[in-house]
Amino acid sequence: MDRRGILAGVSLSVIVGAATYFSGISISRASNIDATKVYMTHCKTCHGENGHPTDLGTGLGAREFANAEWQAKTTDEQIIRQINNGTPEKMMPFKEKLTQEEIKALVSVVRGFGKK
Ligand code: HEC
Repeated sequence: MDRRGILAGVSLSVIVGAATYFSGISISRASNIDATKVYMTHCKTCHGENGHPTDLGTGLGAREFANAEWQAKTTDEQIIRQINNGTPEKMMPFKEKLTQEEIKALVSVVRGFGKK
């Protein structure tokens, strides 16, 4: 048996393994959105740090995200739609400001407020 052949095979699989490993990292980094940061930047002013509406938010009619009843009757699609389109004179639309990935990530932030 040719030992050099075995060695070459082993090092080739190491290289291929390393390449998939590193490309895997760069893929996950590209979609690694800091949803909490997005929320704190764009939503906190009205919806508050914990999903409890601020005076401004309450004045406009924002709801308590920690409310179990609201969480139960609201679908992820409704949350996504609300963030995309907003409500005239109450909440501005975010579809031009945020990517769809960021908006989807915000759903889990909003859901997180319901888990107490
Ligand atoms: C200018 C204040 C303001 C900002 C900023 C704001 N919202 Fe709102 N949001 C509101 C108000 C007011 C309502 C209630 C609208 C209504 O009754 O139709 C609302 C409603 C919602 C709802 C739906 C509530 C329901 O009952 O269906 C969600 C979800 C939501 N906002 C998420 C967000 C997220 C996420 C952000 C940040 C990207 C954000 N909002 C930024 C004021 C704001």
